[in-house]
Amino acid sequence: MNKRVFSGTRATGRLHLGNYLGAVKGYLELQNDPDYETIYMVMDLHAITTPFDKEKLAENTRNVIMDYLACGLDPEKSIISAQSLIPEHTYLSHIFSSEISVARMQHLPTFKEKIAQHPDNVTMALLNYPVLMAADILLYKASLVPVGVDQEPHLEVAREIARKMNQKYGMDFPEPKSFSTKGKYVPSLLGEGKMSKSVSKSFINLTDDLDTIRVKLSLVPTDNGKGNELSTKGGVFALLELYELFIDREGRKDYEDKYLSTGIKYSELKDNLARAIASRLEPIQKERKYYEDHPEEVDRIIKDGAQKAGKIAKETIKEVKEKMGFIA
Ligand code: TRP
Repeated sequence: MNKRVFSGTRATGRLHLGNYLGAVKGYLELQNDPDYETIYMVMDLHAITTPFDKEKLAENTRNVIMDYLACGLDPEKSIISAQSLIPEHTYLSHIFSSEISVARMQHLPTFKEKIAQHPDNVTMALLNYPVLMAADILLYKASLVPVGVDQEPHLEVAREIARKMNQKYGMDFPEPKSFSTKGKYVPSLLGEGKMSKSVSKSFINLTDDLDTIRVKLSLVPTDNGKGNELSTKGGVFALLELYELFIDREGRKDYEDKYLSTGIKYSELKDNLARAIASRLEPIQKERKYYEDHPEEVDRIIKDGAQKAGKIAKETIKEVKEKMGFIA
């Protein structure tokens, strides 16, 4: 059997450059390798674990799907859909929640971070987030999960649950591993950490045009253009990283030399960078326009994907119920 791959993005907005270079390029690599069977979803049930807007949930989900398609995810090669359309995810999540302790969930670093971000929204769904994620993956018996290193604690939970289910009930769940793609680390425009949807002004969306990119880059914090040494964090560092990602390494080196000698003119650097990013995004935006103009096609892709995923999901649930002794 081919190795199965599962991954997804929370439906909290549109995809940004960090998602593209860090994750979606990895999805594409696996999709285009015939040794893998790939399933990529928009995680809308995970989106409701933090405060959300009911007027925007469906739209956000569809936007991420359109971004996926515009980047080259192909419904002929991958199963592409939205998590909430396959009710078996929540079913398995409930079953899995009986196999792991509350204390184990409370100690996860991701849970603690979310509590700090949203102290008024510490819900059961938030606590259960990693269990639902384990269900997403194991429902399809996927063994490879392309995600960033920040998700490693969640994968550890999935492996623990898989082992328990296998020992107690004789299931044959694989112990899923994160798959590190050649994905790139894309720095935040604020100069601290990586581009993140949950940090406003930190990211450039795949749908941003040249003017928007210019404005966003103009807000990157800089200095007077000169210094005795190069920093490995902050806005200037972020600009140089982006320069290398979108233009080239030589150009970055030139700017680094200037920084240590005559000084950098940031307006010029930012202008070159804005143009380079915009031209890299152009083909993706053209492709996206097609899907924006054909919403019925997008809906069909999502429904087809849900149907294909649902078939696999139903088999797993049937097996789990039988092995756990539920009434038939
Ligand atoms: N937690 C993941 C993230 O924030 C999103 C996610 C939910 C996911 N379920 C998943 C990723 C299953 C991979 C597999 O990036």
